[in-house]
Amino acid sequence: TKNTFQVSRGDYNHLLDEHVKYFRSLLGDNRVVMDLSDLEKYNVDWFLQVRGCSSVVLKPKNSEEVSRILSFCNKERLAVCPQGGNTNVVGAAVPVFDEIIISTELMNDIISMDDNSGILTCQAGCILENLDDFLAKRGFIVPLDIGAKGSCHIGGNVSTNAGGMRLLRYGNMHGNVLGLEVVKADGTIVDCLSSLKKDNTGYHLKHLFIGSEGTLGIVTKVSLQCPSRPTSRNVAFLGLQNFEKVLKTFRLAKVKLGEILSAIEVMDDTTMDFIKERNHQCSPIGDYPFYLMIETAGSNERHDEEKLDGFFEESMQKGLVLNGTVASEPNKIESIWSIRENITNGYKSCGGAVLYYDISLPLDNYYRIVDEMRIHMGQSCVRVFGYGHLGDGNIHLQIQLKEYSDELKRHVEPYIYERITALKGSISAEHGIGFMKAKYLDMVKPKSSLNLMREMKRLMDPQGILNPYKVFQ
Ligand code: FAD
Ligand code: MLT
Ligand code: ZN
Repeated sequence: TKNTFQVSRGDYNHLLDEHVKYFRSLLGDNRVVMDLSDLEKYNVDWFLQVRGCSSVVLKPKNSEEVSRILSFCNKERLAVCPQGGNTNVVGAAVPVFDEIIISTELMNDIISMDDNSGILTCQAGCILENLDDFLAKRGFIVPLDIGAKGSCHIGGNVSTNAGGMRLLRYGNMHGNVLGLEVVKADGTIVDCLSSLKKDNTGYHLKHLFIGSEGTLGIVTKVSLQCPSRPTSRNVAFLGLQNFEKVLKTFRLAKVKLGEILSAIEVMDDTTMDFIKERNHQCSPIGDYPFYLMIETAGSNERHDEEKLDGFFEESMQKGLVLNGTVASEPNKIESIWSIRENITNGYKSCGGAVLYYDISLPLDNYYRIVDEMRIHMGQSCVRVFGYGHLGDGNIHLQIQLKEYSDELKRHVEPYIYERITALKGSISAEHGIGFMKAKYLDMVKPKSSLNLMREMKRLMDPQGILNPYKVFQ
């Protein structure tokens, strides 16, 4: 366990035989997991950074079962930890102590799809990539693309307000989720599943749950607005001299590519060094100080290729881009994207030695935080590297240590968060607060907002059984 946060267990009851008996009567023996080896993957997070010690995982199949579980846990004052695909990177989806894990992995039915409106309604445990495969057959696409798509659940995506590569094009979950069904801490099933694009009948309650990281309710059903699937796709991989030219190229891409621009990602040369070392992949165009990956998605191959070629030529003529390659064939596109999507998987082999920060910054200060951290860390680390969703002002800053050190982490974090605040940024752009950033929320959030958040939590979950120690500490 690499957990630098000292928190005490809340005043919750411990799991007793009679509780287990109730869960077994409700779900049957197979959906109440208590075997130690089976529990392991639910107790530890994706990067093996945080570990809980829950002795039971419950696997409901529908909203009614979730409702019964929560109603029982609320009466018995048993803390719970909702879990989707467990790909969260801030320790939000694993228990801190012995919280009961409620997994949505068996809640994976597609309920309906309307081909006229593009509205998909499904259970919360559907895996993102499975939804996309289902939609592809009907000419639609999920408006969300993240490297964890093969494992993460749509309910987890909603609960984290996940961002990713397509946010530039389609916007975030607040815009794409049309409705939700949610179970409150006391077991009440709340129907906000309206599948209407426009519905101004009172408070927009669904927004309360989007990004609330399992602390206000358990999402059981999701209704999602899905766009038509683009039939033409191109990716450009470009090498650039400095960050100033990265920004100028970004501006040019917006002007020249307009409505077909679908993603714009940046990475620095130190990220490429990390990729070579850990993932054994390399730049397809040789080495440069910065790289841009620009994707277009449209409906007319010739038109899109002409536009991208025109942009590429102009960016070379203007001296913004030093070198580049453009891919139109699906295999080449996937192989370029895989360089980007695999970065995080490389952290796993570093034994917790990569400290990662998910930051929003105004574009003028976007890369400054990486330069500053290099100076701050000096020789005490292996490398500091930065990459991210340039189009959204979201950078992922990593500090790779020689080996994991609690002491170094404690030294680094307050400094980073102070600098982000001073540079008018956010300490969590898309990953959430979870367990790992909870102690810093007080530092960055205005008191008035924080107080209202606490009032909402008390109203929704008076006993505090839903995902304790997360978001607030
Ligand atoms: P989990 O990790 O299981 O849970 C996340 C949070 O939601 C927890 O607080 C959990 O308690 C809660 N929760 C889960 N399901 C429910 C539910 N049904 N009801 C209520 N609460 C629930 N994130 C990005 O934003 N952008 C990226 O580009 C991105 N790339 C990634 C790449 C990789 C390789 C990895 C490993 C992760 C990446 N992530 C990214 C982080 C992660 O994939 C997302 O946060 C994702 O949305 C989590 O979904 P999940 O189903 O795994 O949720
Ligand atoms: C990404 O954009 O690859 C992820 O958000 C980074 C991460 O999971 O740390
Ligand atoms: Zn990201």
